[in-house]
Amino acid sequence: MEQSKQNSIDGVAENISALFKIYPVLKEIWVYTNEIAKSSKILVAHNPRHMMWDAKTAEIIYSTELELNKSEEIGQANIKLIVAAALLHDIGAYLGEYKLHDITGQKHIMSTDFLSKFFGSIRKNLIDMDEIEKIATIVGEHNNYQQSTIESKILYDADTLNKAGIHGIFQSFNIQKEFGVNLLKVAQRMVDGVKKKLDSNYYYTLAAKKQDQSMGEHGLGGLETTQIYWENVLDILNERKYISADGILRPNKEIRLFNNEKSIQAEAFMRLGLQYGS
Ligand SMILES: [Fe+2]
Ligand SMILES: [Fe+2]
Repeated sequence: MEQSKQNSIDGVAENISALFKIYPVLKEIWVYTNEIAKSSKILVAHNPRHMMWDAKTAEIIYSTELELNKSEEIGQANIKLIVAAALLHDIGAYLGEYKLHDITGQKHIMSTDFLSKFFGSIRKNLIDMDEIEKIATIVGEHNNYQQSTIESKILYDADTLNKAGIHGIFQSFNIQKEFGVNLLKVAQRMVDGVKKKLDSNYYYTLAAKKQDQSMGEHGLGGLETTQIYWENVLDILNERKYISADGILRPNKEIRLFNNEKSIQAEAFMRLGLQYGS
């Protein structure tokens, strides 16, 4: 893809910038998300770049699903709400404790602070209260296992794809940095979390399933690749005896683990048949 096309609005992809022109309030929301991020703590994983990645991915899911699946449900999906919610979905991580970031985000979007920021857009009919309430609900549901609307399902699928393949592995390195946890913790968390997704019907849309396949390595799906990578990390930690029999990091190994994280990550990539950083 040509660089100039891809970067037409502040690094925003072509389809999203077209949506910004059709729905100018989306550009305002993007500016708002960046303002919140700048005025708050630094987050290396749940930041505007991640929210834009989800927005672009959600847009791809939506347009692909319209072609693949002629159902009434996808025909009624509202792309304005999907992109607006994607661009706001993790702002709660800036505003409070991460654990509650979905609900914090939902409440913030319904707060007078947020509504007064968008008062001009509401007055110009660029967005209305019913839409704001729906966006808040999608944001509030983005981490749930049950999604009440097609818009929520599409954002959920986009956020799940964020964990897939090489992209997902690097995003989990960012999550590790953001939470300040060691490699063992993030590996256990990823193996459990991805396993749960793989065991359930983990994508709502055919489009996301298709996208997942394109994000995998060596014939594996994207999430399968992520799963095997983190299982490799756990295997290496076991082989090198970093983990005691009860699955906990041995205290005297903690500093060595920290020093060896890069080599363990590189070996886990090698076992996937990939070069570290490729
Ligand atoms: Fe989130
Ligand atoms: Fe997210």
